[in-house]
Amino acid sequence: MATPYVLVLYYSRQGKTARMAQHIARGVEQIDGIEARLRTVPDISANCEATEPSVPEQGAVYCSLEDLRDCHGLVLGSPTRFGNMAAPLKYFIDSTSSLWLTGALIDKPASVFTSTASLHGGQESTLLSMAMPLLHHGMLFSGLPYSEAELLSTNAGGTPYGASHWAGEQSERDLTEQELALCLAQGKRMGRLAKALRTEA
Ligand SMILES: Cc1cc2nc3c(=O)[nH]c(=O)nc-3n(C[C@H](O)[C@H](O)[C@H](O)COP(=O)(O)O)c2cc1C
Repeated sequence: MATPYVLVLYYSRQGKTARMAQHIARGVEQIDGIEARLRTVPDISANCEATEPSVPEQGAVYCSLEDLRDCHGLVLGSPTRFGNMAAPLKYFIDSTSSLWLTGALIDKPASVFTSTASLHGGQESTLLSMAMPLLHHGMLFSGLPYSEAELLSTNAGGTPYGASHWAGEQSERDLTEQELALCLAQGKRMGRLAKALRTEA
């Protein structure tokens, strides 16, 4: 039988959300018997003729509907764009009606993460906007509890709605110790939840 996995699905243009995804995946893999599967989504274009190779030049491969259907938990990440998730990720989510129709994601744990240029530039609104489609899919939305001490000590990203990173105007800031710890904690929590709630297909 295939090892159960948590899908860490993200879009990232400048690499910050991708870095968070890697740390979250490390957290998932700290839980025995659960794997992390890193996946991304392609850019979208106003030109409907534009195409990309089906396997990206570098980084994670593109997510298939089967990757999403068969996961035991989902962590969804996006840069903040005008206080909301980025269009390429929303575009992928809008292609998941067949999973909604079959209830494929019902009762699976889910959580979200984001990166912004400015400290008060919409992290929490983005995280909440990302929660909405997951709730429509019947997933069990999970944030970060305040037992994670970094939620109180952070002077950059990190919210009870999910991990976040303050990247700076030019993406010049590294992830802080607290932001990293919260990514790891979120991954571990999702791994634990996926294991506890696991049901056979
Ligand atoms: C179209 C667009 C809209 C953006 N909107 C916001 C915003 O509302 N608030 C903010 O702080 N940053 C905003 N940003 C900046 C990105 O959220 C930020 O650079 C993020 O760290 C990028 O993540 P990435 O490195 O994973 O691509 C925006 C960037 C773009 C391209």
